[in-house]
Amino acid sequence: MTRAAVTASAPGKAILFGEHSVVYGEPAIAVPVTQVAATARIVPAARGSGLSLIAPDVKQSFSLGTGPEQAPLVVAARLTLDHLCASIPDATLTVESSIPIASGLGSGAAVSAALVRALAAFLGVSLSPADVSDLVYEVEKIHHGTPSGIDNTVIAYERPIYFVRGATAGPDLLSVGAPINLLIADTGLPSPTKEVVGYVRTGWARETARYEALFQRIGDVAREARRRIEIGNVSALGRLMDENQSLLVHLGVSSPTLDRLIDAARKAGALGAKLSGAGEGGNMVALVQPEAVDTVAAAVTRAGAVRTIQTEVA
Ligand code: MEV
Repeated sequence: MTRAAVTASAPGKAILFGEHSVVYGEPAIAVPVTQVAATARIVPAARGSGLSLIAPDVKQSFSLGTGPEQAPLVVAARLTLDHLCASIPDATLTVESSIPIASGLGSGAAVSAALVRALAAFLGVSLSPADVSDLVYEVEKIHHGTPSGIDNTVIAYERPIYFVRGATAGPDLLSVGAPINLLIADTGLPSPTKEVVGYVRTGWARETARYEALFQRIGDVAREARRRIEIGNVSALGRLMDENQSLLVHLGVSSPTLDRLIDAARKAGALGAKLSGAGEGGNMVALVQPEAVDTVAAAVTRAGAVRTIQTEVA
């Protein structure tokens, strides 16, 4: 059967509230960031050539069946074929991404989601967001052992979500009462999710009561933020972001560079700011009024941000 070339994509994401505590069952809020994306293009190849998976950005190239079994691209393709009960097609799939790697913006999950969607579409199947999310979750387990599932969910649904790990009814898609303007700023330092989640786990094992109290307080902030988002009370979110950041500092996942960018954003007029994702490096996110975006972007750039992204959640 002759198949046509297909392109599919998936956005980046930012966590607004509740990273880390979400791993321990507290709620978190995340939004898609459509200004960056992963894109997968799959084109037919000569009969008998099998499936080649190429990621030029990270200089990876695999042939399904001969590539390392645990490479995320290989796992994502295998899981998709198994899910569809399909045999390996003769095709070349190339995945590219404008999402900075290991920066808290969901680059790994987005690459997997784009690949899963493109491969399924090439085989004539349009997968539901729930299917894409489940498949990407399996791949995410390779990136770090205990993912909460928030990254794959927000990226697959491409909507603001209120997420509780293991919730059987699936994610709550948030209705946003008034537009939320965000400025995301990259420290340029890596945010190694697996390691940082591991440090938090070690801390939790050593000082369980203190960590659980912090998780619960972060959960309270996320619950309150949900209410404010739904009723469109945007100005209250700034204080909640600041409160979440101070709890993340107590968890030990911020860093001097993140603190510097967060401080610069607040001083330049942001309503609130915090790290976003696992922390240590990666990105911070600031809540800004539309007229203050340029001033805040200039201030964080002066403070050392290597890139800024402006996005509106609506
Ligand atoms: C990573 O984007 C967010 C963390 O909460 C880990 C997770 O939820 O799996 C740090």
